[in-house]
Amino acid sequence: MEKTLVLIKPDGVKRNLIGEIIARCEQKGYSVVDLKLTSPSREVLAAHYAEHEGKSFYEPLMEFMSSGPIVAITLQGQRVIEGFRSIAGTTDPTTAAPGTIRGDLGRDWGTTVVQNLVHGSDSPESAARELKIWF
Ligand code: RTP
Ligand code: MG
Repeated sequence: MEKTLVLIKPDGVKRNLIGEIIARCEQKGYSVVDLKLTSPSREVLAAHYAEHEGKSFYEPLMEFMSSGPIVAITLQGQRVIEGFRSIAGTTDPTTAAPGTIRGDLGRDWGTTVVQNLVHGSDSPESAARELKIWF
């Protein structure tokens, strides 16, 4: 059965949205098959965001992702990779569709890097790579 990596980023944990976000995954019909609250090392974050190294938002992104604990989840179900991306909504929470996690619960807080509550793997290759990093 397909698996994806979901992260509840530090903003989601700080805003006490862990339950709300997991509820949306479960209500959709996906299963949590592994879960932990973790404060990742710089090495883990660098491996996770290797594709963004060198981009203008890379350092602010690393700082943001180090700003508090993260919930890492292995979510399982048929087509869960695209399904979770769909319920998460697009990257920018200001314009993410209402009904999505980012659209309903996120906004622009005026920070240099966009804080958008969750991460979801974007392909089977990313999911396999990222699950190995976090679990
Ligand atoms: P994610 O990887 O976290 O699931 O988000 P995503 O696919 O929707 O977005 P991606 O392009 O992979 O970017 C990773 C994270 O970097 C931050 N970001 N900030 N211009 C910006 O300020 C900017 N662009 C990206 C966001 O936190 C984004 O989720
Ligand atoms: Mg991404």
